[in-house]
Amino acid sequence: MDGRDLVRSVRVVRAVGPAQGLRSVRSAWRAWRADARALPRGGGERARVPGAARGAEALPGGGVIHFARSSLRVRVASGGAVFCGWDGAEPEPSYALAGACPQVDARAVLEPDTEGGWRVVSERVLVAVSRHGAVEVRTPGGAVLRRELPPRWWDRTDAAGASGAGGRPEAGGASRWIQRSEVAADARFFGLGGRAHGPRLRDGVYRLWNTDPGGAFEPGDDPLSVTMPVQLVVADAGTHLVFHDNSWDGRVLLREGAEGAGSGHDRPGSCELRMDGGPLRYWVLAGTPARVLQVWTALTGAPALPPQWALGYQHARWGFGGQDEVRRVVAGYQERELPLSAVHLDIDHFDRHRVFTVDRARYPDLPGLARELRAQGVRLVSIVDPAVKAEPGDAVYEGGAACDAFVRDARGREVRGVVWPGESVYPDFTDVRVRKWWGAQYAERLTQGFAGFWHDMNEPVSFAAFGEQTLPRSARHALEGRGGDHREAHNVYALAMAQAGFEGLCELRPAERPFLFSRSGWAGMQRYGGTWSGDVATGWPGLRSSLSLVLGLGLCGVPYSGPDVGGYSDTPSRELYVRWFQLGAYLPLFRTHSAVWAGRREPWEYGPEVLEHARTALRERQRLLPYFETLGQLARLTGAPYVRPVWWSAPRDRSLRDCEDAFLLGDALLVAPALAAGVTRRPVQLPRGRWYDTATGRAHDGPGQVWVDAPLSRIPVLARAGAVLPVTGEDGGTELEVWAPKAGRGGSGLVVPDGGDGWQRPTVERFTSRWEGDRVVVERRDGGAVGYPVRVRGLVDA
Ligand code: GLC
Repeated sequence: MDGRDLVRSVRVVRAVGPAQGLRSVRSAWRAWRADARALPRGGGERARVPGAARGAEALPGGGVIHFARSSLRVRVASGGAVFCGWDGAEPEPSYALAGACPQVDARAVLEPDTEGGWRVVSERVLVAVSRHGAVEVRTPGGAVLRRELPPRWWDRTDAAGASGAGGRPEAGGASRWIQRSEVAADARFFGLGGRAHGPRLRDGVYRLWNTDPGGAFEPGDDPLSVTMPVQLVVADAGTHLVFHDNSWDGRVLLREGAEGAGSGHDRPGSCELRMDGGPLRYWVLAGTPARVLQVWTALTGAPALPPQWALGYQHARWGFGGQDEVRRVVAGYQERELPLSAVHLDIDHFDRHRVFTVDRARYPDLPGLARELRAQGVRLVSIVDPAVKAEPGDAVYEGGAACDAFVRDARGREVRGVVWPGESVYPDFTDVRVRKWWGAQYAERLTQGFAGFWHDMNEPVSFAAFGEQTLPRSARHALEGRGGDHREAHNVYALAMAQAGFEGLCELRPAERPFLFSRSGWAGMQRYGGTWSGDVATGWPGLRSSLSLVLGLGLCGVPYSGPDVGGYSDTPSRELYVRWFQLGAYLPLFRTHSAVWAGRREPWEYGPEVLEHARTALRERQRLLPYFETLGQLARLTGAPYVRPVWWSAPRDRSLRDCEDAFLLGDALLVAPALAAGVTRRPVQLPRGRWYDTATGRAHDGPGQVWVDAPLSRIPVLARAGAVLPVTGEDGGTELEVWAPKAGRGGSGLVVPDGGDGWQRPTVERFTSRWEGDRVVVERRDGGAVGYPVRVRGLVDA
């Protein structure tokens, strides 16, 4: 046990009490022993590199290059995604891919190049493979986006190793490997899931192992609950996304490059990926950021569309105490005419923290409460933890045990961990049978009146006094029938749990879109729902992390997320609360939440001034709801996140690439939150074009930096000249807000009207704006009637 373990044990005991603390010591000890028995330790390893090329064969979409000690499959898919698989790795099986692997692009063929290597030319990229296994991905114009050096494996040579025929490991085996790559000197890295520090990922080591930070996190804490081997690299030469489809534990070492000031000697940026095992296979997607995200979501699945109400403001709390308190809080919002869309009940509403139960003493009539709130337009959302209390008589435990649902160790015994209810077992969501059984459990929640679901503790967590706060690495998983252990299943555990919940809800309540968000997840999680920050620390650094997380996740294809407004861990100052609330109002998941010990989050608890500012933010959110709905639909249709970095449409603008304190909300708005104490004015880096300060109407011309007012009553929001966006009008109907185009220019905007909470096919309405004499006119692209009242803004300065 090292110093960190000691601090953690103290924290565990503080959080769960001495009895649980003792259990967590026992559980940690059991996990250590299980791993020591079942996992290969020590033993020999032999390093291997591909060696010299021996020849190549053309195959549909590319071909295979044979090296002395490995082979590389290059396969270009229609849509331009390039797949590279070493050692026989194929795109499938994969937890990330949505359904069938995309068709190959038959026009892409492998051919010898002039340097003794090979190349595959496709419409969007050119892949060049050297005789020793270096791979370059270039733009059609020849600029290098990424250079992968030949990989290196460490194959096990002991009996427990996974050596296959010819001294090579089978694809997906337990060989460790490293791959180093280079990118342009000016490149910036983004993504890797939800990182506390960012969105630009600076030099450092980023771990790929979903982890509950075990206490509130701040910038600098890494990893967190959602890690993904997905990087978005933005450089002058172009943008690309690289996805290493491998769920094992790994580390990414990033180093930004440097441009040789005048000397002409640039140092390229570098990325080194070190994986503990699993296949070496990856996808590269190149193009504009919008195009890359579109191809990424085609590959890994369209984001689930939250129901309309999930875009409204939501209030969560750990420790409501009971249904009367829930009523009081909801009444508090109503008395003050503050819009509220949902209330989230945490583990304290369960019977002794056991999932899929209700504490009947505190919630004697949950369905009644749900109906009553629903009549007032407020939904109930339930937390769902994966761990099931291992207690004979517990219906979920008995049901799961009867169908052999729980994860077992290498000796066939149920793996026991410790979570809120005490000693617990874990459903193996990597088994389709178990997903079906688990999905059916949501029937109990629907009967209780819940409308949405909040998956938690699914990294998965087991409180451990020392070692890792999760299942033993040797724990066995079905992995869709292939069989394997927790080393491979850990990172996809929450993704598979989300799938179970989503599919179960679709069956149980087919007419409604499920609302589900999950603390942990992996590439492809957007198919089932969104995520949230987890336990972000109350404090200004935590506020910054909140924005980094949402931006970074959006670039990994997960558009719906948001933080615990106010921070999770403590009582925020009034100023911090207001600033967090104001930021939250422009993020897809807008939810206040806190730990049971961290004070309240109702806006009126912070005094009349704060209440007024919160009211302003809430009203603005309500006004923007049609815009949020449109952005949700567009995320589903195109993969573009609601919240985008300011460089989204101008990735070559380096000052935008480095800007981390503002974001675009869709195409129309630029939001510049106040992220530090005492801010009343702040600089904003503008993309090209004219931007109106929406509060003052003042026009600013970009690109460049401008200063704007940021009084405590609001955060600066700028609107793009020419933008057309749907908002709620005074009468409650949708109207078009149009920002005057610059003289001689036009503008545009999309509206996807809300089709309810079912599965209606969206219709996309396209509008343009332009000057006609001294008037701004709005037209529908298809020539039809505009169909909405139009309000033009920004005329004074136009
Ligand atoms: C975890 C969650 C947090 C929740 C708590 C109790 O820490 O991240 O949101 O309140 O568990 O369920």
